[in-house]
Amino acid sequence: MDMIFDSHAHYDDSAFDEDREEVLLKLAESGVGTVVNVGASLEGTKKTMELTERYPFVYGSAGVHPDEVGELNEDTFAWLRDQCGQEKIVAVGETGLDYYWKKEPPEVQKKWFLRQLALAKEQALPVIVHSRDAAADTMEILKQEYGAQLSAVIHCCSCSPEMAREYVGMGFYLGIGGVVTFKNAKKLKEIVKETPLQNLLLETDCPYLSPAPFRGRRNDSRNLTFIAEAVAELRGISREEVIRATEENAMRFYRLERRA
Ligand code: NI
Repeated sequence: MDMIFDSHAHYDDSAFDEDREEVLLKLAESGVGTVVNVGASLEGTKKTMELTERYPFVYGSAGVHPDEVGELNEDTFAWLRDQCGQEKIVAVGETGLDYYWKKEPPEVQKKWFLRQLALAKEQALPVIVHSRDAAADTMEILKQEYGAQLSAVIHCCSCSPEMAREYVGMGFYLGIGGVVTFKNAKKLKEIVKETPLQNLLLETDCPYLSPAPFRGRRNDSRNLTFIAEAVAELRGISREEVIRATEENAMRFYRLERRA
């Protein structure tokens, strides 16, 4: 049976401290088959490892978000590299550039973005890219680092349709989440309509970015059914087709086929 694949979640977040186990154990009955929990800090990566050990359907990504790169140095980066060797770690990230919050100077963000891209190549893992208010610099770096060994998803895709086309041309994937259900998300809706289905992944980014009609509330993977519905409507296909294709895409992107 086709099941929903949440390609980007943060169940390590404190928003789930009260009922994490309850939420996770309910996912299967709501049609969610697999979750990739994404590390956004060293602590988040450590908690991600624990979740992958506890739940068979949870895989993990090891990485440090641009807001948190202040905690990286050669020692902590070496620790991050070690985590990439764990069996259920299927990606590096999230890494990238965030000029909206600009918690760290752009030069520092770029340095650790490049290091994490190199790590992904070295470990033969795909990479999860976060980019906010930094579209041009993100594109420049990804183009410079582009090559056969680099596979990436542009998480919470917020770039222009032109850039999205360029990423897809590089063989990259676009992560589609709750924003696609928002009325004012014109550019993203256009991207979802025109991008080949094989390049789209569904993602919650939970606990953030709940889709309409739950906007503002805590998000979880069960809400992906609303995102699949929105994508289906935009493309004129069935929700089941979206769920089937995006599950297949995520398995391919995270190279889970050969592990199964
Ligand atoms: Ni995220």
